[in-house]
Amino acid sequence: CQAGPLAGRRILVTAGPTHEPLDPVRYLANRSSGQQGFALAAGLADLGASVTLVSGPVSLPAPAGVTFLACETAREMQALVMGNGPFDVAICTAAVADWRPEHEAGQKIKKTGAYDAAPPITLVPNPDILAELSTKGPNRPRLVIGFAAETENVIGNATAKRQRKGCDWIVANDVSPQTGIMGGMENQVVLITPDNVEQWPRMSKADVAKKLAARITVWLSE
Ligand code: C5P
Repeated sequence: CQAGPLAGRRILVTAGPTHEPLDPVRYLANRSSGQQGFALAAGLADLGASVTLVSGPVSLPAPAGVTFLACETAREMQALVMGNGPFDVAICTAAVADWRPEHEAGQKIKKTGAYDAAPPITLVPNPDILAELSTKGPNRPRLVIGFAAETENVIGNATAKRQRKGCDWIVANDVSPQTGIMGGMENQVVLITPDNVEQWPRMSKADVAKKLAARITVWLSE
């Protein structure tokens, strides 16, 4: 049992990409490194929170003092999130794959001849974990925070996303390749709440985590 301003608070953080298998050796994924989510989990644990970090495949060590649950696919992540609550606060930084291949081949899909047609891949939508967590109900976390990685119209897209998903806050960032943010150590975010749009200066992902953890602490104490 830890001391600190978030002692006794149960906080969920999702992080990393998900891997959606095509066959036993291939998968669809994205470029998420998991760094922002891991930094947040560490920052919240430092303030005494009971943190559950549910992460897709990343190459980062689990931060000290958090309950770390690893998964691969979106559906596994959904099961861990729904099976380990309820939480006071949920923060979804994971870059969950929006779609997965409809079928996972039991054996490696073989190329039989050099000029064979490529196999078609049919995609189906994955569950939206953030939207599900945001759904009103007795177990809804009091504060649900989404992240929005955008490459254009960052504030417009993220504001629309906040409403569509039903979460309370959205942390938006511009992940266009020239920003170096995806996979990098720094982040530049905009915090969108029901009544405010706040631009934060560029800072380390650890500092974004600390600043957001401090904001959550204030919100919970109000
Ligand atoms: O993929 P999208 O831009 O909609 O993701 C925005 C937010 O939704 C992120 O917080 C992400 O973690 C969350 N998300 C989720 N489950 C999905 C897709 C996204 O929790 N299937």
